[in-house]
Amino acid sequence: MTKPHILQVGSYPEWDQVPLDAAFHMHRYFEVTDKEKFLAEVGPQVRGLATRGDLGANAAMIAACPQLEVISVYGVGYDAVDIGAARARGIRVTNTPDVLTDDCADLAVAMLLALSRGVVGAENWVRSGAWAEKGGFPLQRKVTGKRVGILGLGRIGAAIAHRLQGFGMTISYSGRARKETPPAWTFVSDPVTLAGQVDFLIVALSATPETRHIVNAPVLAALGPKGILINISRAPNVDEAALLDALEGGRLGGAALDVFEGEPHLNPRFLSAPNVLLQPHHASGTYETRQAMGKLLRDNLTAHFSGQPLPTPVL
Ligand code: 8YV
Repeated sequence: MTKPHILQVGSYPEWDQVPLDAAFHMHRYFEVTDKEKFLAEVGPQVRGLATRGDLGANAAMIAACPQLEVISVYGVGYDAVDIGAARARGIRVTNTPDVLTDDCADLAVAMLLALSRGVVGAENWVRSGAWAEKGGFPLQRKVTGKRVGILGLGRIGAAIAHRLQGFGMTISYSGRARKETPPAWTFVSDPVTLAGQVDFLIVALSATPETRHIVNAPVLAALGPKGILINISRAPNVDEAALLDALEGGRLGGAALDVFEGEPHLNPRFLSAPNVLLQPHHASGTYETRQAMGKLLRDNLTAHFSGQPLPTPVL
């Protein structure tokens, strides 16, 4: 059988690239400079598209591949895929859920702890000699027993809540609908009320046009000067301008962020904003999880081209 032609939007680790090259005819979009010319050349043969959560697939890519049958996303979030364009052409879309849930929840908790306890600043305190010169590190904020609000109690949001129960935290959540949860978790119907009731607000929503800037100036005002925002989801869920204004104006206690508009080129105001913890969109970034994601990406492509049911379809 001839190998199906696949448009590869971004790079993968060697352990995924080798088996992908063995099974498919991979066309490396990310390596060429003249993208338009490349798409015009290879697009007509392409039957599959392999991409990443952060890169997706835009309308121009999809339009350039008239034989496209399947888009396989390495990541749980598929907001960067033009789903409307895929649906209009009956193109299947798959993602990599579940295998990354634990890592994303772990990083959210790590960010919460690190920002509350000033772990990065404390490390600098030791390294810079300030400990010996100035004495003990300034006092920080306690975590155990505090109130946390989870915006989006899906797989990742629930995994975060289960972990934070171990810190004796009070769990509230908001989202499209009330969920089946342990009895102590409280559903709050709107994000402003949720933010007003908690010390930490964790955003774990998948991004859709409806959730764009769901964390806006009123939500941040409700969270308040001692409140901490943690975003482990997608940048557009937070109004970054409102967030930066609140941080710079001392109207928000702090923010720990793994995602940014225009990443990896984030707004430089974040670099000098007070009380921020900045992470390079690496919530799923462990060997174990990335290997499982790569396998699932390939399993979806293989299943499609051998006429088997897709392991993890979203469309
Ligand atoms: C990855 C992601 O960081 O799962 C997602 O939605 O954004 C991530 O796990 C990304 O796809 C890897 O490049």
